[in-house]
Amino acid sequence: MERKARSLVFVLVLAVFSMVQAEGKMNIQKSAFGKTSGGQNVDLYTLTNDNGMVVKVTNWGATIVSVQVPDRSGKNADVVLGYDNLDGYLADKAYLGCTVGRYGNRIAKGRFTLEGKEYKLALNDGENHLHGGLAGFNKKLWQANEVKAADGVAVQMHYVSKDGEEGYPGNLDVSVTFGLDNKNQVKIDYLATTDKTTVVNLTNHSYFNLLGDAAGNILGHEVTINADRFTPVNKTLIPTGELAPVAGTPMDFKQPKAIGARIDDKYEQLVFGRGYDHNWVVNQAGASPWLAAKVFEPKTGRVMEVLTAEPGIQFYTGNFLDGTIKGKKGVAYQHRYGLCLETQHFPDSPNQPKFPSTTLKPGAKYQTTTIYRFSAK
Ligand code: GLA
Repeated sequence: MERKARSLVFVLVLAVFSMVQAEGKMNIQKSAFGKTSGGQNVDLYTLTNDNGMVVKVTNWGATIVSVQVPDRSGKNADVVLGYDNLDGYLADKAYLGCTVGRYGNRIAKGRFTLEGKEYKLALNDGENHLHGGLAGFNKKLWQANEVKAADGVAVQMHYVSKDGEEGYPGNLDVSVTFGLDNKNQVKIDYLATTDKTTVVNLTNHSYFNLLGDAAGNILGHEVTINADRFTPVNKTLIPTGELAPVAGTPMDFKQPKAIGARIDDKYEQLVFGRGYDHNWVVNQAGASPWLAAKVFEPKTGRVMEVLTAEPGIQFYTGNFLDGTIKGKKGVAYQHRYGLCLETQHFPDSPNQPKFPSTTLKPGAKYQTTTIYRFSAK
C-alpha cells in the first residue's frame, strides 16, 4: 500500500515537472478570435519561443495582433499597437498590424499601364490609391495552417486575390508565413504567383512602440536607417522620381537619432509628410536580407532590428493617429504613439520606370522575407 502511494506521488511530481518544463518550450496554439460580419470563424495563433517571447497573429487580414518582448530587466510587454478583440480589427482604418496588398503604399491617381493596357484603381487617399484599395488584403479572411519551421514555430496564411479585385489584373495566389524563433526573430516570408501580368508589393503594417503597452509617444525612440538616399515626395506623398541624398537633412538616420529631434523642422518633406512618412532606399551590401533599420528605446532598453530583402522601407511615425482609436487595454492611441517600418518596393513604382520593378509575370515568383529581431541592452 505504502509503496503504491509513494509511486503515485512520484508519478504526480513527474507530471507537474514536465508540465512546468513544457511551459517554457517553443509552441503554437490556435484559439477562436471571433466571427466576421458574414459569420465566418476567425482564429488567433499564439506563438511562444523558449525565451517566453509571445507573438499573436490572426488570419483576419493576416495581422500581427501582439508581440510581447522583454525589456532590459527581463519584463515582457506588448510592443505593437492593436485591439483586444476582432471587432477592433474589422472596423480598423489605420492598418494596425495587418498585411498590406496587393500594392502597399501609394499609386498616383490610381492608374498604371501594363503591357499597353491601362488599369484604374480606387482613389482612397485623396487623389491617389493607397494600400490596395477599399478592401485590401487587410480586409480579407485568410486560410491559416501551422507549418514546419527549421528553427521555430510558424503559421502560414493563404489568400487568392481574384482577377479584377480592386481593379488589379490576374488571379494572385499569396502566402504569408509568420515565424518565431529562439533568436527572438519574427520572420515574415511572402510568396505570390499570378496567371496574368500584374503588380505586387506586400508589406506588414505593424505600429511599434518599444516602451511597451503604448505607454507614451515614440519621439524618444532612437532610429537608425541604413540608407544614403530616400525618395522625396510631392504634397500628396507621391515620389517625384528622384533618389535624393539624406546627408545634411532631417532624413539622415545613418547614425542613431531620436525621432523627436527634428520631426517638427520646417523642412518641406516633413511638412508634406506631417512628420516622417517616407520611403528610404536601403543600402544593399553583402547578402540579403539586409539590415535596413534599427530602433532603440532608451527607457526600457528594448531594441528592434529590421532586416529585409526589399529595396525600400517606409518609415511612418503615426502622424495620423489622434487619440480616436481606443486600442488594447483601452489605451487611446495619441499622435505619434506608434512607428511603422514597412519593408517594400518604392511607392508608385508602376508609374516610375526608373524604380525597381513591381511587375509580376505568370511563371515568375514574388518571394521576399522581412525579419523583426528583438533584444534589449
Ligand atoms: C502608410 C502611409 C501613411 C498612412 C498610413 C496608414 O504608412 O504612408 O501615410 O496612410 O499608412 O494610416
